[in-house]
Amino acid sequence: MMNIAVAQSGGPTCAINASLVGVFREALKEKSIDAIFGSINGIEGMIENHLIDMKTMISSNGDMDLLRQTPSTVLGSCRYKLADWREDNKVYQQIVNTLVQREIGAFFYIGGNDSMDTVNKLSEYFAEKKLDIKVIGIPKTIDNDLCVTDHTPGFGSAAKYVAATLREITRDSTVYSIPSVTVVEIMGRHAGWLTASTAILHALGETAPHLVYVPEVKFSLEKFLKDVRRQMTKHKAVIIAVSEGIEVPEGVQSGVVDNFGHKYLSGIGKYLENVIRSEIGCKVRSIELNVMQRCSSHICSWTDITEAEAIGAAGVRCALSGETGMVMVFKRVCDMPYTVDIQHVDASEVANKEKFLPKGYINSAGNNITDHALDYFLPLIQGEPNLIMEMGVPKHFTLQESVLK
Ligand code: F6P
Repeated sequence: MMNIAVAQSGGPTCAINASLVGVFREALKEKSIDAIFGSINGIEGMIENHLIDMKTMISSNGDMDLLRQTPSTVLGSCRYKLADWREDNKVYQQIVNTLVQREIGAFFYIGGNDSMDTVNKLSEYFAEKKLDIKVIGIPKTIDNDLCVTDHTPGFGSAAKYVAATLREITRDSTVYSIPSVTVVEIMGRHAGWLTASTAILHALGETAPHLVYVPEVKFSLEKFLKDVRRQMTKHKAVIIAVSEGIEVPEGVQSGVVDNFGHKYLSGIGKYLENVIRSEIGCKVRSIELNVMQRCSSHICSWTDITEAEAIGAAGVRCALSGETGMVMVFKRVCDMPYTVDIQHVDASEVANKEKFLPKGYINSAGNNITDHALDYFLPLIQGEPNLIMEMGVPKHFTLQESVLK
């Protein structure tokens, strides 16, 4: 018999709790697994021995149903970068103390590329110390920028939200007779996947987004203004999707960075709004979708949620088969009918690496997305959950504030 622990890390998504349900549900089925611990605030909980008993936390199928539809990370999250264990192993020893004291034989880390760095380092350290503790990474991120995997849990729901919201913004923007421009700022740090997914609207016969700017294409303000003026000759209300990650002049963004050195991005939409106002002088509005794009579970993709649960469960089976230092990945078998396989790869293939939009998804002018990308995006946003509601609002599964920090 052994105990296991699971933690959630990095930026929230609508699907991380579904992966937690996947790990929990699969572990419950296993006779060789006794206690299932949830680590509070990702790896920080393992360092500080701040764990909760998940069998007490989740006491029924109803709890699992609620958790599956609850956005964000019920166990809290962190952006914690482990030092190289060859240089400083103090924190590693603290983690080992927690694991040994709690008799934990497998640790599951649900996170993005930075969290896969933790999976990689921990599995290396345990191997060095000859500790038989399995470490498995379960992917997630709305940025969809993890290497090897076809896509990441959380992305499909975020893509569904941004596409649906852009469609709604398009209806709202076209009511007046005067010309206007609306700039919609979308998350995604260095990769343009989520911004590009707004082009899903083209498959529905919408002309919007009329312009799409992603970090994969070098941004020129001069060309941008030319593009906008050109689109204004064709459309009364021009809708622009812009990634938070495009290169902008110093000072537009705050300059604050997290533990991994990633800049806190935001403000590009407002900046472009001001430029358009002063250079073109038309009615202009900017909309920053901000955290809503990663926590709007009322419009999540059911495909995303069910896949997130399945990949969490597959992680448990992977550890039980004796693997460690692995990250679970999706391999797309077919676009239509959409089919994926779940496999695992060495964490070093995923840790600290980023996957960018393929060149073929970006048009030759570098200001929109080709129809070629639609076969990739569309299957990921399909399906809606049958939401459990309370007083007209989706119900969430929450822990008492005192449990979290
Ligand atoms: O996790 C990815 C992400 O949501 C990015 O899209 C975004 O730039 C970043 O996280 C925001 O970080 P934070 O949640 O720390 O503000």
